[in-house]
Amino acid sequence: MSNTSSIKLDRGERRKIMLTLNGRERTGYCESRDLLSDFVRHELGATGTHVGCEHGVCGACTVHVDGIAARSCLMLAVQVEGRRVDTVEGLAPDQTLGDLQQAFQRHHALQCGFCTAGILMSCADYLKRVPEPTETDVREMLSGHLCRCTGYTPIVAAVLDVAASRNRKEPEHA
Ligand code: FES
Ligand code: FES
Repeated sequence: MSNTSSIKLDRGERRKIMLTLNGRERTGYCESRDLLSDFVRHELGATGTHVGCEHGVCGACTVHVDGIAARSCLMLAVQVEGRRVDTVEGLAPDQTLGDLQQAFQRHHALQCGFCTAGILMSCADYLKRVPEPTETDVREMLSGHLCRCTGYTPIVAAVLDVAASRNRKEPEHA
């Protein structure tokens, strides 16, 4: 949690923010200086988003803003007024894990899980833009995330597995 959030203004003195969070319209209140990461966790209750370094290095806080992966510790809450924000909770809206999450489970691509929400959000965005990545591509994408547990190899395997699986299914949708 940001140190700047330790002393709060009264709600009446804070900014009202309306946004779409994981497909639902939400309203929250923030100070002009509040980070998006603190806002989604502490004001909106989306605690699946983790906060590590708070300066854009570890990637743990990655969310989607208007469908694009973004580090929520590098954005202010006021910047998402009227926008769509998706957090890791949005990957399983009906409590059923999506294919990416299932692949992480299958490949043991997480241990403590601290990095996992951010990595899942980056991977979800990445696979939309790069549906047939190579192992090198995936490793390059993951270079924006720090994981202290897995050694990255199972994460890479999970992402490649999902990409291959989606591409196998592609002709059915053509
Ligand atoms: S907490 Fe945002 S990049 Fe580390
Ligand atoms: S699973 Fe522990 S930091 Fe990545």
